[in-house]
Order: sequence, then C-alpha cells, then structure tokens
Amino acid sequence: MAGGSGSRLWPSSRSLFPKQFLSISGSDTMLQATLSRVCFIDSNISIICNDEHRFVVAQQAQEFGAELNSIILEPAGRNTAPAIALAAFDALESNSGESAPLLLVMAADHVIEDVAAFHAAVEVARVQAEAGKVVTFGIVPESAHTGYGYIQRGAESGNGAFAVSRFVEKPDLETAQSYLDDGGYYWNSGMFLFAADVYLAELKAFRPDIYDACEKAYLGKSRDVDFLRIDAEAFKACPDESIDYAVMEKTDKAVVVPLSAGWSDVGAWSSLWEIGDQDASGNVSSGDVLSYNTSNSYVRAEHRLVATVGLDNIVVVETNDAVLVAAKDQVQDVKKIVESLKAQG
Ligand code: GDD
Ligand code: MG
Repeated sequence: MAGGSGSRLWPSSRSLFPKQFLSISGSDTMLQATLSRVCFIDSNISIICNDEHRFVVAQQAQEFGAELNSIILEPAGRNTAPAIALAAFDALESNSGESAPLLLVMAADHVIEDVAAFHAAVEVARVQAEAGKVVTFGIVPESAHTGYGYIQRGAESGNGAFAVSRFVEKPDLETAQSYLDDGGYYWNSGMFLFAADVYLAELKAFRPDIYDACEKAYLGKSRDVDFLRIDAEAFKACPDESIDYAVMEKTDKAVVVPLSAGWSDVGAWSSLWEIGDQDASGNVSSGDVLSYNTSNSYVRAEHRLVATVGLDNIVVVETNDAVLVAAKDQVQDVKKIVESLKAQG
C-alpha cells in the first residue's frame, strides 16, 4: 500500500512525492525497502497507489529490480479497506492454485530493522492465515500514542499467535493510557496476513457498501502494461474507510502475532531521531550539518550546509524550497502547517 500522504514529514514529503518514495533512512526509498522485505518470501508482489504516482512507483520498482504482478491505480484515495479489497479481487483473479492466495498486506512507509525477525513472524502468521484467520502483527507499545490501533491479547492460539480479544482503532489519550497501564495490549503495526477470500467475506459481512463498490470498480478494470486501472466512477462512489474500522474492530477471526523487529511507522520527524544513529550528545543528523553545543536534536540538510548552536530537543529540516524548525515534542503538528499551506492554495 503506497497511497498515503505523509504530511507530517513535510517539507521533505510533498503531495506529489510523499514519504514512501523518499529515502528517509538508508539509500533505498521506503517503497524499495518494503520490496526488499517481501521479495525473499515466495510471493507475487502488487503495489496499490494513487494514479498520480504511477510513474514514480513504476520507476522505483524497476530500479529495484522487482517483478510485479500489478500496479493497481486508484483514481482517488479511499483509504485502506477499499485498497486491500481491490488487491484481494486481483489476487483471486490471477490465482492459479487450488486454494485462495494469501495476502501479506504491507505499508510502503514503515521501517523494519530486523528483517529476519519479521520473516519469522510471517511464518508464524502463515499457519494462522491458512487456517482462515485474519492475522495482524502486534508491537509492544512504548507510549499512549493515539495514532495507533490497540490490540488486546487473548488466549494463545498455537505456535506463538494469540487470539484478539479486542481491537480498538486510535483510542483517545485516556483510553490509550489505560491500555498501557493494564498491560496485555499491542499496537497494531498496520501489516496483515489473510487469505484473499476471507478478507472479502469479512468485508462483505461488515461493510457490504465498500465490498459492492470495490467489486464494481474491479469488474470495470482495464490493463495497460503493468498498470491495472479500475472503474473510476464506481471507485469514487466507495466510502472512505480504513481496514482497522471496517474489518479489524469487528471480525472474530482476528489473531495477533507479536513482532519485535525494530518496527517504526516513521510517522513524524521525531521517529527518525528515535531510530537514527545518535551521537554522544543525542543528535541525529543527515547531510551537511555542523553542530555546536546542540543536544537531542534531529537536523537534516538536503541542499545546503546547516549549522546549529545551543539547541536542545529541536528538529531542523532543510530542503531546496522550505525549512522547518520545530520543537521535537510537537512535530505531530507539522500537519497543521501542511493544512494551512493547502488552505492558501
Ligand atoms: N493504496 C493506498 N490507498 N494506500 C493507502 C491509502 C489509500 O487510500 N491510505 C493509506 N494508505 C497506505 C499508507 O501509505 C500507509 O502505508 C498505510 O496505508 C496505512 O495508512 P496510514 O494512513 O498511514 O494509517 P495510520 O498510520 O493512520 O494507521 C494505520 O497504521 C498504524 C501503524 O502505523 C492503522 O492500521 C493503525 O491501526 C496502525 O496502528
Ligand atoms: Mg501510518
């Protein structure tokens, strides 16, 4: 899934070039790093993204050397429940095997440091998905972050997977804190594994409106080399909803596989500071940076030399046409800047 907007990573991430197409840490772009994580697994890879990003996606996949099944193009973003439905219809149609194919759903904008641990978790999940379960990968929570889904762990359902007692998408701060105090909860990583037909059956049961719109959009498709275009009018009529609200909160087939693999969804600049190589003063820098008496800060220079003196807990991001300077504990609000830029046109 490469259809997000990444607005909290402005000014590096822009609507025409959101974060999944950038190299945020390391030399591969986030999309390419995601491809490298799945190409070891015996798989057919499809990328689903907005129509306006088709050339970036095709170019990055080619540069990486990935053989793709399809690049599915959405005429408009309708969030992850419809995006995954389109991929599921396509996987079923192109399937030659006897049983329905499994879908490993990955976000193209996450960092996973320990790929071997991730693959081990996928193997645990595979057994569950083959038995008709809807598997999510759970991360041990570090704070009462309200931007995540929370999964309450139930009884062990075999080989290291657990039943999901409850799935709550993006609770308020008080609720999130109570889950943390309680223990026994995971953050939803936003990656899933299930059989394509199981997902579609759950979606049809809980959100027939989304199912019907996606089925109609998929039936009206046309192929143009690697690109799969769906019926725009039918898809635009589809409600906007994430898989988390549409299916995960409602299904009784959910299972969680704990994942401890240095996962981060790199939601905001502070995550880059957290996962980066901190120097003795706790600074993470990228590009041409000179710092004096600076601590606990993230400084990124993309075009010019950036120098800092006497800063603590600050984020500085320099690009060729915009510079961000922010308090590190308030970088979630960078999206407010993007909103006001949009309002100004
Ligand atoms: N193709 C496509 N189309 N991809 C999309 C769309 C869409 O309309 N909307 C989002 N995506 C992609 C994003 O690029 C991202 O890779 C992934 O789907 C998840 O979308 P986000 O918008 O980043 O979701 P979130 O971060 O608010 O919440 C999800 O991820 C959290 C973990 O990072 C949820 O699954 C939470 O429960 C989870 O904790
Ligand atoms: Mg996200």
